Amino acid sequence: MAIKVAVAGARGRMGSQVVRGVLENDKMKLVAGFDPTGVGEELAPGIKISSPAEMENVLKVVKPDVFVDFTNAAAAVENVKVASRNNVKLVVGTTGFSAEQFTELENAIKAHVPAIISPNFSIGVNVFWRLIAEAARQLQRYQYHVEIIEMHHSHKKDAPSGTAVKAAGIISKYLGAGAEGGGKTTILYGRQGITGERRDEEIGIHAVRAGDIVGDHTVLYAGKGERLEIIHRAHSREAFAQGALKAIEWISEKERSGIYSMDEMMRELGQE
Ligand SMILES: NC(=O)c1ccc[n+]([C@@H]2O[C@H](COP(=O)([O-])OP(=O)(O)OC[C@H]3O[C@@H](n4cnc5c(N)ncnc54)[C@H](O)[C@@H]3O)[C@@H](O)[C@H]2O)c1
Repeated sequence: MAIKVAVAGARGRMGSQVVRGVLENDKMKLVAGFDPTGVGEELAPGIKISSPAEMENVLKVVKPDVFVDFTNAAAAVENVKVASRNNVKLVVGTTGFSAEQFTELENAIKAHVPAIISPNFSIGVNVFWRLIAEAARQLQRYQYHVEIIEMHHSHKKDAPSGTAVKAAGIISKYLGAGAEGGGKTTILYGRQGITGERRDEEIGIHAVRAGDIVGDHTVLYAGKGERLEIIHRAHSREAFAQGALKAIEWISEKERSGIYSMDEMMRELGQE
């Protein structure tokens, strides 16, 4: 039986790639697409874009196995609530959630449905997160300074990227920590004016917005006389869409409710 998939943000840059991927995947069947723009447009024979206002009714009729969300933070919180109370499993790629919004998401999901949430579905970035953790672990005792630089296209609406925020969270576990980990860090978003000297516990995050850059992330570790840079560059949104398709397949088989990560998925699939 094909996995029945609904996509929110179906007309967006990411959602439209996921729609295409689902249509090309013979293990999946597109059953609904939601977007406030382009309502009524055909995504596939018999599947028209529905308005988010119709979501609850449409989900009750088409009964998807998995609901995918690539919208914006405020919309995603509401969409997740609707999908969850209709027992639809979730793949959430939307970024830019405030702490309060993320708590709302957790509450909507926790005891109800399995969900995979990731600010970045690319396989490469998930390996990048492991590599930056390992570099931070090894370098923290030598007090290397860490800065994160992310670059995205001019249409991106949130900053810094969810990927950069996650990178800062990973590195924070090690920085200024002594050999045992668990250090204190201060995250700075860019610098301006008379900032004084850099402090060892700072992590600077810098968001570049220009042209059609799909998504670049650099973590830079600088010490005396050298620096190490770990860089991921997405060439196209295909990288995220392919990861999201793997996540759809994986989450469709999960029974236990709760939030899963791409890292858990990759470890389980790789049987690491
Ligand atoms: N996790 C990842 O791998 C990954 C990769 C790229 C982008 N993103 C994130 O995905 C999100 C979307 O990015 P994008 O570049 O596709 O943006 P986009 O602006 O191109 O697309 C968003 C779409 O959502 C639609 N939308 C708005 N409210 C909606 C609602 N209530 N229900 C359904 N659709 C709604 C918009 O009309 C738009 O078509 C952003 O948060 C972005 O940061 C995540």
